[in-house]
Amino acid sequence: MAKITAGVATSHIPAIGAALDLGKTQEAYWAPVFRGYEFSRRWMRDAEPDVVILVYNDHATAFSLDIIPTFAIGCAASFTPADEGWGPRPVPVVEGHPELASHIAQSVIQQDFDLTIVNKMDVDHGLTVPLSLLCGQPAAWPCKVIPFAVNVVAYPPPSGNRCYQFGKAIRRAVDSFDEDLNVHIWGTGGMSHQLQGPRAGLINKEFDLRFLDGLKNDPESIARVPHIDYLRHAGSEGIELVMWLVMRGALDAQVREVHRFYHVPASNTAVGHVILENLRSPSPRQARRFLVERPRETITNTTPSTGSPLRPPMRQQHYGFCRTSPRPRWDLKNSYAGRRRGFLRADFLPLCLRCRSVADC
Ligand SMILES: [Fe+2]
Repeated sequence: MAKITAGVATSHIPAIGAALDLGKTQEAYWAPVFRGYEFSRRWMRDAEPDVVILVYNDHATAFSLDIIPTFAIGCAASFTPADEGWGPRPVPVVEGHPELASHIAQSVIQQDFDLTIVNKMDVDHGLTVPLSLLCGQPAAWPCKVIPFAVNVVAYPPPSGNRCYQFGKAIRRAVDSFDEDLNVHIWGTGGMSHQLQGPRAGLINKEFDLRFLDGLKNDPESIARVPHIDYLRHAGSEGIELVMWLVMRGALDAQVREVHRFYHVPASNTAVGHVILENLRSPSPRQARRFLVERPRETITNTTPSTGSPLRPPMRQQHYGFCRTSPRPRWDLKNSYAGRRRGFLRADFLPLCLRCRSVADC
C-alpha cells in the first residue's frame, strides 16, 4: 500500500529560483537562504520518495481570471515548466503519477470534497522552486510529482480548516492506493509577506514562529485561524500559509520535526521551512527500503557481500504484526554498519506488515 511518510513546508519565492538559475547562491544576500536547505537536500536524498504531492498555488500561469479552481489536481503524465515572463526556468520537466493522482481525485471527490481534475497544465515557480530547493539542480527530478493547486490568489480562498480537512481526505486516499509507494506531501508558499499597497514589505516574525510551532504541535488550532487574521498579521500574501495545512492534515496527529529554518528577508518575504515525519511511520529511509528494496522472494540467510551465515531465518520471527513481532535483539544500525547497503538490512527491520510502522500499532 502507498504510505505518506513525511511532509515538507517551504516558501516558494520566485527570486530564489532566479538566484539558483543565475548562479547567485553564494552571494552574501542569498547564501544564508540556501544554507538553510543544505540539511534538507541530504534528507531528501536519503528519503527517496517515489511520489511527492506538491501543494502550491498557480500564479496566473495555468489558470487565469477566466477559470479559478479552488482545488485542482494534476493528473497528467508530465508537466512543463511555465514561461512566467522571463522564459521558463531551466529545470527538468516534472513527471507526474497519473494513476495515484486519479485515485486521489476519485477518492476525495467521493469523500465529498470538490476537486478540479486537470489533465494538461504548465507549472510555475510555486512548484519548481520548492523542488529546486530540496533536490538541487539535477538533470531529472528524482521523484514523480502530483501538482495540487490551491487558489490563494483571487478572493475567496479556501479556509485553513478546509485545507486541513482536505489534507486528511488526501491521506485516506493515499492509504487506500494499492501500490507500494513512499509518498511525501509538501505545502508551499508563505510565510508573512505583502507585495503591494501601503503595507508592502510587511513581515511578522512573531506570527510566523507561532505558526511554525502550532503547525507541529497544535494544527487544529492553527486551522481555525480565519482569513482576516492572515491578512492582518501576515500580510495579503500570508494567506498562502493555508497550503501548509493541506500538508499537515495528511500527516499523523503526532509528528517529529526533523528540520526547521526561518530567515528574513528574501525578496521582501520571510522564508520558512520545516520537515515533519510521521511518528508512527518508519523514517523515510526505512520506508524506502521496506517498500521498494525488499525483494520478498529473494530473502536468504546469508549476507549479500560475504556469504557468511547469519542468524537463523528471521522471516517468521520479524515478519508479522506489531503485537506479535518481537523487537530485534541487537542494534541494527551498529550490527550492519559498514556493510554494503543491501536488502538484508531492510529484511531485519521490525516493521509491521499492517501499518508499516516501527512502533506498536
Ligand atoms: Fe506564491
